[in-house]
Amino acid sequence: MAGSRGGFSSRLGFIMAAAGSAVGLGNIWGFPTQTASNGGAAFVLMYLVLAFCLAYPAFMAEILIGRYGQANAVTALQKMSKNIFQKRFAFVVGFGGVICAGLILSFYGIVAGWMIAHTAEPVAKLIGSDDAANWLVAFSFERNLIFTALFVSLTIFIISRGVEEGIEKWSKRLMPLMLTLLLILIGYVLTLDGASEGLEAYLNPDFSRIFEPDLVLSALGQAFFSLSLGTSVMIIYGSYISKSENMVSLGAQVTLIDVSIAFLAGLLIIPAMYVAQAQGVEIFAADGSLLSEDTLVFTVLPSLFESMGGVGLFVAIGFFALMTIAALTSSISMLEGPVSYAVERHNMERKKASIFIGIGIFLFSVIIMSNFESLFGLVITLSTKYGQPIVAMLCCVFVGWIWQRNSLLEEIKSGNESVEDGFFWKIWPVYTKVVCPTAIAMVFLHSL
Ligand code: PFF
Repeated sequence: MAGSRGGFSSRLGFIMAAAGSAVGLGNIWGFPTQTASNGGAAFVLMYLVLAFCLAYPAFMAEILIGRYGQANAVTALQKMSKNIFQKRFAFVVGFGGVICAGLILSFYGIVAGWMIAHTAEPVAKLIGSDDAANWLVAFSFERNLIFTALFVSLTIFIISRGVEEGIEKWSKRLMPLMLTLLLILIGYVLTLDGASEGLEAYLNPDFSRIFEPDLVLSALGQAFFSLSLGTSVMIIYGSYISKSENMVSLGAQVTLIDVSIAFLAGLLIIPAMYVAQAQGVEIFAADGSLLSEDTLVFTVLPSLFESMGGVGLFVAIGFFALMTIAALTSSISMLEGPVSYAVERHNMERKKASIFIGIGIFLFSVIIMSNFESLFGLVITLSTKYGQPIVAMLCCVFVGWIWQRNSLLEEIKSGNESVEDGFFWKIWPVYTKVVCPTAIAMVFLHSL
């Protein structure tokens, strides 16, 4: 459908790009480690329920806003606003999402840089450069700076090429590669001693924990982060979808892929932790709780790879390359939010906007790196715990309370003529109007 503002060339193009945005460090690192520290399968069950019952409806709201508006988040929301107050509200919500995407990229780029450095470490060992290998995995300002710069440059490179030639083409290349790496690693880890104990912990629910407030809260946060909600990203991706596509099934497919890959990542990480334990690596702290998420990924798993001997070097390369690729297909969507805004609202040329905004976000990452202790956690909390739920909730409010019902129906019918007779149209509008905003607000208030 690539018109003058660009667009995905096919259904598959959108699915790969949106699933690429959704599947990232949140799935491969966040989901398994949160599952392990929140009662294993109980968390998985709650996550599945919340992903389909709350995150999917909110995801639908965002991609529909985008396809209706055929524009960046602010313009799209303003198109459905009827008066000056609604237009201002639209600006706050849309621009809030754009800022949120930029903030997330500023810390995500640092973490993704660590992933590249950890991919390079076994390569340095293979070529016999132990000093370089040690430098690559030691926390230092210089290392963080270089690898964040490298990662952000890759992100800028892809976004500057546009929707079809950049986002779509690279998502179509990287997503299958990522899935292949994931499956190979799962196949290998499951053959090792201790893996079955990990599977047991992952798949056997402790039902007594399922309604623990902290568990519910973490599962909802994880589901929203994973579907990239509340960041303007799904609005802009929705705006690149052809009017002839069935949005209900497209949205369901992306949600299903996202959830399935998180589940698969659990089949890799949790058994791997227990394999590490079987080999004498500590995975639990003295009080019986699981070690922190970053210790698991940057200490426990590398110790496991080391204990595997020569083959461990290749497993380590595969594992951290998997993380890097997953991060890249997500980071491009984070940059596309602000870039599409600058291109469409301020008439900037795409290439210039990509470089300018990419560098701006990188400079903010440098500030975070220079004040790591005080800023890193703060930016994560501000953007993912506050920003994302608030913006996602306001998008639901927009669809439920401001968008005229007939116009909404017309938009969903485009590409799906019979939607009116189906289950989706019977419950989703009320759901978006009342259930989603209330549930998000309740969970949000509780977290305060
Ligand atoms: N969904 C990504 C993940 O799970 O890692 C993170 C993400 C991507 C968040 C894009 C926000 C965003 F706009």
